[in-house]
Amino acid sequence: MAQLWGGRFTKETDQLVYQFNASISFDKKFYQQDVEGSIAHVRMLGKQGILTKEESQEIVKALKEILQEVEEGKLEISHEYEDIHSFVEATLIDRLGDVGKKLHTGRSRNDQVALDMRMYTRQEVLETDELLEEMLNVILTIMENNIDAYMPGFTHLQKAQPVTLAHHLGAYFEMFKRDRQRMEDIYRRMNYCPLGSGALAGTTYDLDRYDTAEQLGFYGPTLNSMDGVSDRDYLLEFLSALSTIMMHLSRFSEEVILWNSNEYQFVEIDDAYSTGSSIMPQKKNPDIAELVRGKTGRVYGALFSLLTTMKGIPLAYNKDMQEDKELTFDAIDTAKGCLALFTGMLSTMKFQKENMESSAKHGFTNATDAADYLVNHGVPFRDAHGIVGRLVLYCIEKNLAIDDLSLEELKEISPVFEEDIFEAVSMETCVEKRLTLGAPGPRAMKQVIAMEKKYLSEDWKTAVKDWEGELLK
Ligand code: ARG
Repeated sequence: MAQLWGGRFTKETDQLVYQFNASISFDKKFYQQDVEGSIAHVRMLGKQGILTKEESQEIVKALKEILQEVEEGKLEISHEYEDIHSFVEATLIDRLGDVGKKLHTGRSRNDQVALDMRMYTRQEVLETDELLEEMLNVILTIMENNIDAYMPGFTHLQKAQPVTLAHHLGAYFEMFKRDRQRMEDIYRRMNYCPLGSGALAGTTYDLDRYDTAEQLGFYGPTLNSMDGVSDRDYLLEFLSALSTIMMHLSRFSEEVILWNSNEYQFVEIDDAYSTGSSIMPQKKNPDIAELVRGKTGRVYGALFSLLTTMKGIPLAYNKDMQEDKELTFDAIDTAKGCLALFTGMLSTMKFQKENMESSAKHGFTNATDAADYLVNHGVPFRDAHGIVGRLVLYCIEKNLAIDDLSLEELKEISPVFEEDIFEAVSMETCVEKRLTLGAPGPRAMKQVIAMEKKYLSEDWKTAVKDWEGELLK
């Protein structure tokens, strides 16, 4: 047990209490942010004359060494310490003696942990955005190559109207695009620096909070010290956005699982992304998609856990907030892992286009178009609906698609049908006629693909990183 605060205590902490209280087993994850935050703080203390230039330089040098040694595996983060902050500070004191003891001047672990978590999360937001971007690139490539790959579109999981593979995947493009926009939004709102908030009421030292904020890549300092140490909204927003990403991935997984089944055979998952059965030799299971679907609950759980933790906490810092870490880390790692794996699975997946097209044909997805044909030849829509209903029934009895019937058979059901009905109900015509922006028709589809390409060519991260918040003007 090694702790920073023994002075006012007359007894040792109970061993179980110590373990219950300690966070080093999980907060060691942000050792880098902890050291970087300390370096910025100490540099500022030097500039402000709170520490001498020499003291500041000496501490910065030692902190850099500590960081490097941890990274190279030469210095092990010992679980003897209560948390990562104590470990870094104690190691520094060990090396520098009294000068090291000056690091924590004008700072509390409350603003320190608020800073570390924010810096850690900010990086994770950027990395999640990159993974989403990779997914979007894979989806767009599939879209470009499949503008005329016909497939059934479903409502109620019943075949409804023909669409294309490009159009179907285009729906996911929109979803993941919104997920990226959420990353940008979170980044812009969270990128303010809580350092200098102290324990809750700021400090009596003349800290330059603009300086530390700028050194650490923030737009500026946070504006209320009590909020600075106790705000975890950005985590809730990130967990909520990650939950939405998982919900999207889970829906997509569900479709891949269906499409990969014997009944559908719309796709074949690559061997590298499927698994076998220990007993049934014929099996090739979509385990990755199932696991992604299954892990969604974990991420939702982290969101609900933190919402619940935060709901009853009075201002400002309370130890409850230490609970913001474990499940959040798990949720971030889970969502990022799922994004990466799903992208890999998608980019190697084979689409069985003939099966998709044949399924669209044999599911009467062109029935609406057959009715429209009759309407265009003067039949009132309600009558046309009834005629095509009888036509479908006839086809079901004979196990045929509408386009498989002869003109004589069609004429028996309605004399209005002529030779051109076959072209009118072909998949090609059905899709081509769906021409509104956002529909599967090839012209609209090409237009949308061009817009998505343009979107992908602009990187919000460059813009947002250069953006100077009002506070820094
Ligand atoms: N491990 C603590 C956390 O994660 C650090 C802050 C400790 N502050 C305190 N006053 N005990 O929240």
